[in-house]
Amino acid sequence: MKQILERGDIALLIDAFYAKVKQDDLLAPLFSHVDWPHHLPVIYDFWSSILLGDQSYKRNPFEKHRDLPVTPAHFNRWLLHFERTVDEHFEGEKAEEAKQRANSIAGIFQHKLGLLK
Ligand code: HEM
Repeated sequence: MKQILERGDIALLIDAFYAKVKQDDLLAPLFSHVDWPHHLPVIYDFWSSILLGDQSYKRNPFEKHRDLPVTPAHFNRWLLHFERTVDEHFEGEKAEEAKQRANSIAGIFQHKLGLLK
């Protein structure tokens, strides 16, 4: 099993994750408008900045989620696919960090959306 060490690893992780999201009846409709060739490199930047510290992502990740019609069920499903994708492809410190950070950011997003008490 591989560790997450470089941007190519992140691209593999994110591509595999969105393959699951696009096949999920609950989540897919929320991504139907997405311009994937534009979106994917932004997400690679986001996770490269978090896990590899390359500072390639300089935006506010919450803004695009502010008006999405989401519930805790959507976040739980998103996290399930994310954690499964990490575990299917990677092990090690960065893999664990990816899952932890996804959980904590999902918590922050839900808090900002007023979904958590
Ligand atoms: C219910 C769960 C979620 C849904 C339905 C969702 C959906 C979306 C959608 C539709 C976009 C906009 C894509 C575009 O139009 O360009 C987006 C962007 C993004 N999402 Fe999520 N998201 C979810 C959770 C998360 C979580 C937990 C994270 C972080 C761990 C995250 C990170 C991002 C980032 C970094 C962007 C790019 C923002 C930018 O353009 O700078 N998302 N998401």
